[in-house]
Amino acid sequence: MNKIDIINKIKKIKQEKNAVILAHCYQNIEIDEVADFVGDSLSLSQQAAKTDADIIIFAGVYFMAETAKILSPQKKVILPRLESGCLMADMINTEELKTFKAQYPESPVVCYVNSTAEIKAESDICCTSANAVKVVQSLPDKRILFVPDRGLGAYVASQLPDKEIICYSGYCPTHMRIRPEDIFEKQAKYPDAEVLVHPECHTSVIKLADYIGSTSGIMKRIKESSAKVFIIATEKGVVDRLQRDYPEKTFILASEKAICENMKWTTLEDILISLETEQPEITVDKHIAEKAFSAIDKMLKI
Ligand code: 13P
Ligand code: SF4
Repeated sequence: MNKIDIINKIKKIKQEKNAVILAHCYQNIEIDEVADFVGDSLSLSQQAAKTDADIIIFAGVYFMAETAKILSPQKKVILPRLESGCLMADMINTEELKTFKAQYPESPVVCYVNSTAEIKAESDICCTSANAVKVVQSLPDKRILFVPDRGLGAYVASQLPDKEIICYSGYCPTHMRIRPEDIFEKQAKYPDAEVLVHPECHTSVIKLADYIGSTSGIMKRIKESSAKVFIIATEKGVVDRLQRDYPEKTFILASEKAICENMKWTTLEDILISLETEQPEITVDKHIAEKAFSAIDKMLKI
């Protein structure tokens, strides 16, 4: 079957089965041709919570499909490539979180949504990179535990000097592969470029930014900026979409190594197969899902 046939077949089955396809901006760009909604983690959670579809096909990684299931337990949630995990989410397990919490028993835990359902269930509130500062600021406590991303946690701490943020040691290997030398090298070639950096990056890269923001923040900034050239320090999928949407501007990926392999496994063929078979379905233990829902719901209400 050629690509056009696959796309048409996906659209037909999607309608017949009242299914919705949600895709993260780090997916291969061809996925956008069948997606009902493409966005960052926060906007995808919001979409998952409000859709009236019977089936959600999640073109993303495991924790995203799990979050969709927690928000819409009555819906069938499908992750076309079950092995699409998140290396950062896997850097902390429940035992490790309990040990971390035991050191600061009075302090609330803010958990980056890039985490397993079990970790969310043991946390007080979730956040995404788009709302992390707002979520931490909303808590009355001075000391906050932040898991699992030390990169995002350090950025939040830099924005909220009145808070004492204790970060877990997890990190995103994709964003941490971007080095300050990559930015210097690109700046030498494009001296007028604006440098936009995702807060999952290393502090030494964040320091070089003209703008620091989540995926949606970076996209908004591009819309508003009068600059013509941008050096983008985040995952390649964002750059691909920006170049498609703003052909008159130039976007330079800070490092060719900034590719999340897990996000790139899903193909149009996988989406078609998962729509036809309604597999692999994501389930979450009821008890864990209820506790995790509370942490996600608190975030969505902020
Ligand atoms: P956002 O979608 O919140 O920008 O997160 C980036 C990310 O690493 C998703 O896996
Ligand atoms: Fe996880 Fe990083 Fe990939 Fe996002 S980019 S899914 S945080 S490994």
